Amino acid sequence: MKYWPLTLLLLGACSGGDKGTTPASPHNPTPYALDVPAGFPLPEIPANNPLTIEGVELGRLLFTDPILSVDSTVACASCHLRESAFADARRFSKGVNGLTSRNSMPLFNLLWSPSFFWDGRSASLEDQAIHPVQNPIEMGEDWSTVTAKLTRHPTYPRLFAQAFGADKPIGQKLAVQAIAQFERTLVSADTKYDRWLAGTEEFTPEEERGFLLFHTEQADCFHCHVAPLFTDNQFHNNGLDLDPADPGLARQTEGRLDRGKFKTPSLRNIEYTAPYMHDGRFQTLQEVIEHYNSGFHRSNLTDPLMLIRPGLNLNIKEKQSLISFLKTLSDPQFNKP
Ligand code: HEC
Ligand code: HEC
Repeated sequence: MKYWPLTLLLLGACSGGDKGTTPASPHNPTPYALDVPAGFPLPEIPANNPLTIEGVELGRLLFTDPILSVDSTVACASCHLRESAFADARRFSKGVNGLTSRNSMPLFNLLWSPSFFWDGRSASLEDQAIHPVQNPIEMGEDWSTVTAKLTRHPTYPRLFAQAFGADKPIGQKLAVQAIAQFERTLVSADTKYDRWLAGTEEFTPEEERGFLLFHTEQADCFHCHVAPLFTDNQFHNNGLDLDPADPGLARQTEGRLDRGKFKTPSLRNIEYTAPYMHDGRFQTLQEVIEHYNSGFHRSNLTDPLMLIRPGLNLNIKEKQSLISFLKTLSDPQFNKP
C-alpha cells in the first residue's frame, strides 16, 4: 500500500502522453531518532510534524538565519544564544526596532511544554515560531515576504523539498514546522544531578544539603520547580511585585487574580541563563535566593505555595548550599557554542 501513489504516478506518465510533467521523485526523509532521557515523561510530537533529519537541519538553518527579519540583521539565534542555553545574557534583547519588553527565554526540553511565552499565549512550537517574525520590535517582517525570499534563495528550495517533498509550497507553514522540529531536538539532561540520580557520580555534602533544602518544606522550591524538568509548566505569582507592571497570564485570561502570574521556568542550566525572572530583574542566583528567603511580597495575588511558610529564614550556609545544588543542574555539553 505504501507504494501506491508512486505506482499510479508512473502509470499516469506512461499512458497519458503528458510530456511536460516528470513524475515527482519519491520523498523519503530520514526519521530523526530522539533520545528521551531516563526518567523523563514520554514526549508528545504532533503526528503531522514528525522529526526528520532533513527537517531538523532546515529548522536549525532557519533559526540562525537573519533572512527571517525585515532588514536581515536579526535571527532567532540573536536573542537565543547557544552559550546561554539559548537565552540572552542581556536583560532585554535587541530586535530590529528596539528592545524586547521581557527577558528572552532559554530553549531546551520544550517538547515537554504545553504552552509557550512567559504568559503561555502560544499552544505549540509551530504557532510560537510565527510570532517573532511578525513582531514589530523583534524581526518586523511579514511571512509573505519571507516566503518570497526563501523561494528565490539559492539553497532553501532544495532543502524544503528534501524535508517536506517538492510538491509542498515553501512558506510559513513549513518554515515553522522545521523550526519546531529543530527546537524539539534541544534536549538537555546531561548534568551532575542526573548522574547522581543514576548513581554514577557523588554529590558533595554541600550539594546534598542543597538538594534536601530544595525538596523539603524548608526551602520549598519543588512544588513549582518539579523534577525532572524542574518546572511544573504552570503559571504562578512568586511575589515579585505588589502591583505587577506586567499582567502576565492575566493578559490571556483577563482574570484579576492571574495578574503577575508567569510560566515557571525550568531551573536546569540556571547557571547559564542570568539575568533572572520575566523582566530579568535579578543578576545573580544570590539575589534570587534572597527574594525567596526574605524579599517577596505577600498579597492576594501571591501564590498560596509561597505563603504557606512564614519566610525561609535560611542562614548563609544554607543559601550557599541551595546555590550549589542549583549548579548541579548545569549541562555544560548542551551549552557548548
Ligand atoms: C528580539 C529578540 C527575539 C527574537 C529575534 C526571537 N525571540 Fe524568542 N523570545 C524572545 C523573548 C523576549 C521571549 C519571551 C517573550 C514573551 O514572553 O512575551 C521569547 C520566547 C520564545 C519562546 C518561548 C519559550 C518558552 O519556554 O515558552 C520560544 C520557543 C522562542 N522564543 C523561539 C523563537 C524563535 C523560533 C525565533 C525565530 C523565529 C525567536 N524566538 C526569535 C526574544 C526573541
Ligand atoms: C509558587 C511557585 C514557586 C515556588 C514555590 C518557587 N518558584 Fe522559583 N519561580 C517561579 C516562577 C513562576 C518564576 C518566574 C517568575 C517571573 O519571572 O515572574 C520563578 C523563577 C525562578 C528563578 C529564575 C528563573 C529564570 O530563568 O529566570 C529561579 C532561579 C527560581 N525561581 C528558583 C527558585 C528556588 C530556589 C525556589 C525555592 C527557594 C523557588 N524558585 C520556589 C515559581 C516558583
